[in-house]
Amino acid sequence: MPVDTIFWDHGSIKLVDQTLLPAKFKYIRCRDVKTLWHAIKKLQVRGAPAIGIAGALGIALGVKSSKARTGKDLLREVTGIARYLASSRPTAVNLFWALARMECIASRNSARSVSDIKRMLEREALEIIREDKEACRSMARYGARLIKSGDTILTHCNAGGLATADYGTALGVLFEASRQGKRIKVYADETRPLLQGARLTTWELMHAGIDTTLICDNMAASLMAKGRIDKIFVGADRIAANGDAANKIGTYSVAVLARHHGIPFYVVAPLSTFDLNIASGKDIPIEERDADEVRAIGGRFIAPRNVKVYNPAFDVTPNGLIAAIVTEKGIFRKPYAKNFKKYRRNRPY
Ligand code: MRU
Repeated sequence: MPVDTIFWDHGSIKLVDQTLLPAKFKYIRCRDVKTLWHAIKKLQVRGAPAIGIAGALGIALGVKSSKARTGKDLLREVTGIARYLASSRPTAVNLFWALARMECIASRNSARSVSDIKRMLEREALEIIREDKEACRSMARYGARLIKSGDTILTHCNAGGLATADYGTALGVLFEASRQGKRIKVYADETRPLLQGARLTTWELMHAGIDTTLICDNMAASLMAKGRIDKIFVGADRIAANGDAANKIGTYSVAVLARHHGIPFYVVAPLSTFDLNIASGKDIPIEERDADEVRAIGGRFIAPRNVKVYNPAFDVTPNGLIAAIVTEKGIFRKPYAKNFKKYRRNRPY
């Protein structure tokens, strides 16, 4: 469902605090870059495209009160803010893509006045939001072609409106199919440890009036074995040049299960999620998060407080398990490395 997840509001950033959902729908305001950094780190704002937007708006926010006298000085500040925001989360390439795009504006225009560059940076951040909305709609239209009326679909994590500026990537496809009158049922994996599926995806799907069933992550195999899943749609945080795709931890298990049961596994992501500079998923940096996210659920400890924990936030699905990758430019199929090539040349960031 379209959600105003993150936006520019009279010189500051407003974002939905996703850690409170579904109990509370509440906006927080970021008036400085440090607050925004923490919002990204804590997953108050999350999902690859939304994190990219946060980065772009963060640059506009950071330079607003700058006392720089020349464009070159401002550029140095932009680079510093970009470096700081880039340290918040390592996996979603949208963040680095958006920061590089903003730095590019500052460096190309460094001969201009400081006030001109500040204005241009704000405009660029708003343009990134506009493009993301357009990309969501376009991915949804392409992806909906893969869905038949009567399909039952499984999704993992949250790739919906809360993860973008509009109505999402994988969930956007489902919203569009439903809008077109196709009857669909959706199973949402709860997505341990932080429960984006249980808290966010079910909330969005139910608001859109889609038949939604929540399952624990470990129930997906039995559903597939019973023949109750027709297709799988997930988002991505970074897609390498060969089509390997990083997404929320647990996505890879779903893809392996899908292969075993002969179910098509689709990834939906905008081109801003592609990292064509890296050859394969082996080079995707995987964020490891705090151990207490696994030891506790909603602040209540379910394991000994000192038990050792492994808590990677993402895993990589090898391209061979992916039936197709849906983007705003169309549906890509294997061989991904060859089919992505035409996008490599035209992108300065
Ligand atoms: O840790 P999160 O909640 O930011 O992880 C988000 C995901 O893994 C999403 O599936 C991905 O960013 C795609 S969002 C359109």
